[in-house]
Amino acid sequence: MINIKINDIVADAYETITKAKDKRIIDDLSLKYLGKKSKLSKMICELVNYALPERKVIAIAINKAKNDIKNLLQQKKQEFSKAYYHNQKCVDQIDCSSSSLYFPFKMGSLHPVVTTMESIVYIFQHLGFSIFEGNDIETDWYNFEALNIPKNHPARDTQDTFYLNKDKTTLLRTHTSPAQIHIMETHTPPIKIVVPGRVYRNETQDVSHSSTFHQVEGLVVNEYVTFADLKTIVKEFVFKFFKRELKIRFRPSYFQFTEPSAEVDIQCYLCQNNKIDCKICKNSGWIEILGCGMVHPNVFKSVKYDNNLYRGYAFGIGVERLAMVKHNIEDIRLFYANELAFLQQF
Ligand code: DAH
Repeated sequence: MINIKINDIVADAYETITKAKDKRIIDDLSLKYLGKKSKLSKMICELVNYALPERKVIAIAINKAKNDIKNLLQQKKQEFSKAYYHNQKCVDQIDCSSSSLYFPFKMGSLHPVVTTMESIVYIFQHLGFSIFEGNDIETDWYNFEALNIPKNHPARDTQDTFYLNKDKTTLLRTHTSPAQIHIMETHTPPIKIVVPGRVYRNETQDVSHSSTFHQVEGLVVNEYVTFADLKTIVKEFVFKFFKRELKIRFRPSYFQFTEPSAEVDIQCYLCQNNKIDCKICKNSGWIEILGCGMVHPNVFKSVKYDNNLYRGYAFGIGVERLAMVKHNIEDIRLFYANELAFLQQF
């Protein structure tokens, strides 16, 4: 029954799209058949009413229908573009239709990791944070020791760290946290900064791990800074980034350089905690987005801050992680594969 309905929609779309007379009509039809208020999108919302095995079959049929319609719309759009350039009569004797490779002209766009990083930093700037740049090449002191990560900690294992010399004193930073030390060494509180940057880890690549990725570090130090301040800022950030009120939970965690430490999860906005076959939250209903905590007294000791006078909080946000959550991307390696088909979506 529902399959017949889907077939009818596709048939109707084919008929109307093939008859379309110009590019603007194609845009309207794209909205009509693929937009949020389209019949197919409504059917997706109604999937919850079906039992799981049936739901899967219907979902596949809807996706196929959407793809078929999308391809036809694209094909028709390209036809109009070609016709347009032909009608220009190629005045300057350039054969505009000579190669499909350059046709229609393609505009470049910013990489999704760049736009995500920019929007994170932008939000914090508006919350009163300054931007600071750290170093990609660090010493053992800044990356580990000063951050209360002792010599025998597993994070120092050659498995994780790209060392740059034999005696392992210089390395590619494994996180943006060493910037905390640089800023505290050179400034007295109040401090309120974010540090965007690339980090490096010597680990096997898979769907959620890459040897280079990006983080945004945050650090706030002042006389009266509490965990409640940290919670407020994180809540505000999540609201501004996802542009909606999402449930947040602070899960107790462990980082050497913060005490207490927490990891922050947001409610899975894709499946709305319905946990139906959700690839983003893996059916847990929650998505982890950052690590944070109150600056550990040993870290203040490293930079000769008075532990009786100052308190601080810090956080580290995984940029690729947020980009994946926001754009519904399942494999981190896609960001670095340079595949045009992937990049052109942004
Ligand atoms: N540096 C941590 C990592 O790479 C992330 C992090 C956790 C940063 C807690 C922080 C923090 O500043 O407080 O996994």
